[in-house]
Parts: sequence; C-alpha cells; structure tokens
Amino acid sequence: MNKKKIAVIVGSLRKESFHRKIANYIATIAPENLELEFVEVGGLPLFNEDLDGKNAPESWVNFRNKIKEMNGVILVSPEYNRSMPATIKNALDVGSRPYGSNVWDGMAGAVISGSLSGIGGFGANHHIRQSAVFLNIFMMQQPEAYIPTIQNIFDNAGNVKSEETKAVFQKFINAFEKWVEKVSR
Ligand SMILES: Cc1cc2nc3c(=O)[nH]c(=O)nc-3n(C[C@H](O)[C@H](O)[C@H](O)COP(=O)(O)O)c2cc1C
Repeated sequence: MNKKKIAVIVGSLRKESFHRKIANYIATIAPENLELEFVEVGGLPLFNEDLDGKNAPESWVNFRNKIKEMNGVILVSPEYNRSMPATIKNALDVGSRPYGSNVWDGMAGAVISGSLSGIGGFGANHHIRQSAVFLNIFMMQQPEAYIPTIQNIFDNAGNVKSEETKAVFQKFINAFEKWVEKVSR
C-alpha cells in the first residue's frame, strides 16, 4: 500500500492546548494508509523577505523541505481574535516563498478549528481556508469541523469522553483519507 504522508500542524503553542489534544486523538484514529507526522511551527522566525534566499534561516529551509515531502496537511487551530493565530499564518507565509517556490502547491488539506464557546472557531477556519486555497492547497469542503466547547471533550487522562464526539472525528479523518486519494499530489 502506498501510504500518503500528512503533516499535522497545530496552531496553539500552549502546553495544555485543547487543539493539540484533538490533533493527538486524530492521529490515533487515522486510517492506516495515512502516515501522520506532526510538523512544529512555533520555532519558525516571523517571515521577513530580507532574510530569505540563499541564507534563509535553517528552520525555514527545514520546514519547507519537510512540507515538500507531504501529500497533505491537516491544520488544527484555535481562533485568535476572529482569525487564525500568527503561528499558522507565519507557517503558510514561510512555505509560500521565495516567489515561485510555494511548497504547499497541490497538497490535499483540511482544517479543524475549535473554541471554548459554541462558535467552534468559524472565523479562524475560514481565514485559514482563504489563504490555503490561494496557495493551491485543495481544501476538503465536507465534513466541516467547527468544534465547540473544546474544554469539555477530554477526561483527565486525555481520552475523548463522548461517543458522539469520537464519531465526529472519525467521520472527518475517514473523509480526509478519501479526499487525499482523490486530489493530492
Ligand atoms: C489572543 C487570543 C485570542 C482569542 N480569540 C478568540 C476568538 O476570536 N474566538 C474564540 O472563540 N476564542 C478566542 N480565544 C480563546 C481560545 O479559543 C482559547 O484560549 C482556546 O483554549 C485556545 O486553544 P488551545 O486550548 O488549543 O490553546 C482567544 C484566545 C487568545 C489567547
């Protein structure tokens, strides 16, 4: 079986991040032919075109090379002030340059957003989609994943409490597997 390589990028840097927990859970239930790898973006210096080119920061070069290996990406992110956190935007920007060397081009993508309230990070979700679509990441449209009240999902051991929530995540990752097969580079 030809496994598909999928980057998982988490938008929160917080140690106890609920989005990290969601991403960790998704990684445990992903179908066998998806090979999920967490790609960390918290250490990437803010994009600055003056630093780019032959002497680009090593972390940018490593990040770009890592994303180039991938068939797909799952972005799991909170909403910050009705948009995506700077971590995600910076990662998208770093991967998009130098001009003409967009490492995201032709990947399959999906986004999971969450919130402590009932809104589920809708604003972040769609801002991520907006940039990702421009970068020619083929974003899965359905099922959408706006996860409300993320603080209530996990028990103290980090397990998902409700069968209904488990089913939401399973449906999402199963659909993503099919999406990757259909559209990814
Ligand atoms: C700077 C900042 C801005 C935030 N803005 C929003 C927001 O616009 N909408 C929202 O639903 N929650 C917002 N929150 C609350 C986050 O959803 C909450 O902190 C969540 O736990 C972050 O995800 P994490 O647990 O993965 O770190 C914000 C939090 C921070 C720190």
